[in-house]
Amino acid sequence: MYVCLCHGVTDSQIREAVGEGCCSMRALRRELGVASSCGRCAPYAKQVLDETREPAESAHLVPA
Ligand code: FES
Repeated sequence: MYVCLCHGVTDSQIREAVGEGCCSMRALRRELGVASSCGRCAPYAKQVLDETREPAESAHLVPA
């Protein structure tokens, strides 16, 4: 599904970018252009970012 219409960015592209190390809206903006024009996609892009980042962060907190 398209998250950012201005730049044609989908939620899977965002998840992929997060998987490759984008951990902030600033990083996503730099990588994909998300929220760099009208900004209307920012809340949803942030939601996708948080949802994708969370499991990785919790996994990081689990002691080895
Ligand atoms: S929809 Fe993403 S910047 Fe406009």
